[in-house]
Amino acid sequence: MSGGGRRFEICVIPPRKRSGMEIGMKKFLDMISEEIRDAFEAAGYERELGKVTLSNRPDLCEYQCNGAMAGAKLYKKAPFMIAEDVAARCKESSVFSEIEVVKPGFLNLKVKESFVAEYLSGMQKEPKFGLEEPVKPMKIIVDYGGPNVAKPLHVGHLRPAIIGESIKRIAKYAGHDVIGDIHMGDWGLQIGLIITELKEREPELVYFDEDYTGEYPKEPPFTISQLEELYPTASARSKEDAAYKGRAMEATYKLQSGERGYRALWRHIMDVSVADLKKNYQNLDVEFDLWKGEADVQDVIPGMVDYMKKEGYAHISEGALVVDVKEETDTKEIPPCMILKSDGASLYNTTDLATIMERMREYHPDKIIYVADKRQNLYFEQVFRCARKTGLVSGDTELLHIGFGTMNGKDGKPFKTRDGGVMRLEMLIQEIRDEMYRKITDNRQVEEEEARRTAEIVALSAIKYGDLSNQAFKDYIFDIDKFTSFEGDTGPYILYTIVRIKSILNKLREQGETFEHACIKAAQSSSEKVLMLEIAGFNAMMETACEESAPHKVCAYIYDLANAFNRFYHETKIIAEEDTERKAGWTALLMLTRDILETCIQVLGFSAPERM
Ligand code: ARG
Repeated sequence: MSGGGRRFEICVIPPRKRSGMEIGMKKFLDMISEEIRDAFEAAGYERELGKVTLSNRPDLCEYQCNGAMAGAKLYKKAPFMIAEDVAARCKESSVFSEIEVVKPGFLNLKVKESFVAEYLSGMQKEPKFGLEEPVKPMKIIVDYGGPNVAKPLHVGHLRPAIIGESIKRIAKYAGHDVIGDIHMGDWGLQIGLIITELKEREPELVYFDEDYTGEYPKEPPFTISQLEELYPTASARSKEDAAYKGRAMEATYKLQSGERGYRALWRHIMDVSVADLKKNYQNLDVEFDLWKGEADVQDVIPGMVDYMKKEGYAHISEGALVVDVKEETDTKEIPPCMILKSDGASLYNTTDLATIMERMREYHPDKIIYVADKRQNLYFEQVFRCARKTGLVSGDTELLHIGFGTMNGKDGKPFKTRDGGVMRLEMLIQEIRDEMYRKITDNRQVEEEEARRTAEIVALSAIKYGDLSNQAFKDYIFDIDKFTSFEGDTGPYILYTIVRIKSILNKLREQGETFEHACIKAAQSSSEKVLMLEIAGFNAMMETACEESAPHKVCAYIYDLANAFNRFYHETKIIAEEDTERKAGWTALLMLTRDILETCIQVLGFSAPERM
C-alpha cells in the first residue's frame, strides 16, 4: 500500500473542468461505476453491466459489481470469464487498488487511498461538498406544524414540527426554493366555543354589544393562560350541554358571516395565540416563512364551490355537496370528498382544497408536502384526488403526504404525563433540559449559566434526533434515558463527536498548526480510509434524503460518520504526531468531518455547542 509523503501534492490538483454554470461533483459511487463500465465496454461487453454497489461483505471488499452474472445470460459465457476480462482491463486503473474475481463471477473492489483523498480534496473546495445543484430548482411548499390556536402545544405537535422543519431545511440546502407554511387551525367551531364561553362569563364586554359601532379596544380581554383555560372548559361543556353547543355553533356562524365584534375577538385570539406559538416554536428552533391558516382562505371557498358545481364536478349526495374520487384501479373503498355539509357549512377538506387553489395562484409550486399524522392518509388521498380531478392543481404539481406515526411512551401507548394527562410541549422540553443539565454537571465542573445554555442545545439534539432517526411513518418510543445518552445512536453522541473534533482542532491550533494550507492526504490506516469513504458518500446521501424527504437518512449517515471518526481518533495519535505534513493532512480531514457533521445537524434542525 502506498500513501507516503511524496504523494501529497494532491491538494494542488487543478479544479475540475467546468462547463458553464455547473456546480458540484459526480457522486463517488458513480465515478467508480464509470470506471468499471469503461472496462466492460473495453472488454467488448455492454457498459450498463458495470454498475457498482457498496459491498455487502465489508470484511472482503469495499465495493462490488455483479454485472458479469447478468452478462453470462447475455453472452452465453461463464460469468467468471467475463469478470476476468473486465478485471484485466482495470490493471492500470488509477481508481482501484484491488480487483478480485470471486466465483461464480463477482468483482470485489477496493479503491486507491490516493483516489479517495483526491475526491475529498475536491469536496473541500466545493460550496456544498460536491452536492450538485438541481438542474431545475423546484418551488416547494412544506405544510407542517398545523397547530390549532388557543390550545397549548402538546407532545402531539412535536413530530410535525420536527419532521417538517427538517424536510424544509434539507430541500433548501439541496438548492430548492422552499416555503414553510404553518397552516394553523384558526377557524371554525373551536373559535365559536371560546367566544361563547367568554360571553357567558363577561357578557358586558363591548364585543357582544350588537349596537356598538366604535373602535374595539387594542388590548385583548384575556391572557394566553386564560385563553388556554377557556377552550377546554368550553369544549367540555359543549359535550354535555346541547343548548350551549347550539350557542357555540351560532357564534361560529356569526363569526363566519362577519359579525364585527366576533371578528375583533378572533383577532385578539390570533394575536395572543400566535405570539405564544412563536415563542414555543422558537424554543424548538422551528421557523415558518408563512403564518397562514384555515381562516385565510375562507373567502375563496364560495367561488371554489361555485366553480365545482358549474363544471359538474360536484353533486349532491344525501344533502351534502360531494366530489366522487374513486378510481377503477382502487383496491379499497375511497369515499367521495365532501365539499359542503348538508347545512351548507364548509369542512376541513373544503379549507384544504381552497388552500391548494390559493397556493397555486400565489406560488405555482412544483410540489406541496403535507407533514401530518399518518392516520390522515385517506383524508389526504381524497383531497389530492379531488384537487386533481377538479383541476385546482396542474398536472405537474406533485402533492405529497408524509404521514408520521405516533410518539409513544415506554409502555408502548401514546406518550402521556406521569399522571396520564396530555403533556404540554414546554414541560417535555423542560424535562429533557433538566436531564441534560444533570448529565453535563455530573461529568465536570461547569459554570451554572454555561451548563444551562449547553443543556438547552444538547436537549434539542436529544429530542430531534430521537424523532428523526426513525422513519417518519413508524411509531416510536420516546425514551428519555436513551435519547439523552452520550453513547449510541443519539443526538448527544453526535454533538459529543463534533465537540471532540473542535477540541482537537483547538489543540492543534495552540500548537501552531496552520489550517489554511492543510490538504487531505491518502489514508494511512484502515480506520482512516473508512472515515474517508464515509465522507465521500455525502452528496449521494443528501440527494437521496431530499428526493425522498427522508431526514432519517441524514441521521443514519452521521451516525456512521461519527462512529468512523471516533474509531479513527481512537487509533491515531494526532496531537503527538511529529511529521508535520501528516498532521496537516489530518487537520484538513478533521475540519471536513466537522463541517459535514455540522451541515447535517443544521438540516436536521439543531446545532452543536462549543464545549460540553
Ligand atoms: N390542524 C390539523 C390537525 O390538528 C393539522 C393540519 C395539517 N395540515 C393540513 N393542511 N391539513 O389535525
